[in-house]
Amino acid sequence: MSLRSTGSVLVVFLWSLTVVLVQGDWGVTYSTQSICVLKGSTVEMSCSYTFPSGTVTSTFWFTKYVADGNPVNLSDDPDYRRRVKYRSDKKNSHTLIITDLRESDSTVYKFRVITDQTGVSYTGHLGVTLTVTGLQVEVSGTESKTLTCRTTCPLTGNPTYIWYKNGQQIDESSSPQYKDSVYSNREDSYSCSVKGHEDLNSPTMCECLFNTSCLRTVKSIISLLS
Ligand SMILES: *[C@@H]1O[C@H](CO)[C@@H](O)[C@H](O)[C@H]1NC(C)=O
Ligand SMILES: *[C@@H]1O[C@H](CO)[C@@H](O)[C@H](O)[C@H]1NC(C)=O
Repeated sequence: MSLRSTGSVLVVFLWSLTVVLVQGDWGVTYSTQSICVLKGSTVEMSCSYTFPSGTVTSTFWFTKYVADGNPVNLSDDPDYRRRVKYRSDKKNSHTLIITDLRESDSTVYKFRVITDQTGVSYTGHLGVTLTVTGLQVEVSGTESKTLTCRTTCPLTGNPTYIWYKNGQQIDESSSPQYKDSVYSNREDSYSCSVKGHEDLNSPTMCECLFNTSCLRTVKSIISLLS
């Protein structure tokens, strides 16, 4: 073991010792460790907390620290302006709601509790890891096509995938793959969505050669995205 890594093991050890000594009865329990959701949708993350004494004066969620080392209240973070809501309907528990999710919201969300005893606050360091994904259709095969509705992470909550061919719904399935055994033209277009979020479709995928109407669709999608 190099001197450098021995040093960091020692630092980690001392740090955990401090946590145990100073924060006896503090605790934050998150209802889940990680969530994978669709871009454009809404997510809720919950936690419950315990504290040793005093009265809780403030609680908040955060993802970043400012230069002085203090965490930034998510409801004051300009990246989340008008997209964050807090709810504390049960005693000593708290829910964060983020609407209109963006891929850039993918990060770890942590909860902090502040009590009326000066300087006493606690952060639940495990946090909830959020991953925000879009949908992308992958088409393979020539006459009979295998379609895959791709996400960058496995979607939370056993989603049902909905398939569309030329704008018409053709199937609903718990599998992100669909085999189109009906003979298809190279101009056929496919897209997928997830039940309950039908408005958040994947961009339409088709083989556009010689199909000007399809080319126009792709061009308008590209201009929307850029
Ligand atoms: C964080 O924001 C919430 C909602 O705006 C507020 O109730 C809470 O007091 C804030 N906490 C701190 C420490 O700024
Ligand atoms: C061309 O593509 C469009 C859009 O995907 C589709 O609706 C249309 O049926 C296609 N045209 C032909 C001739 O297949």
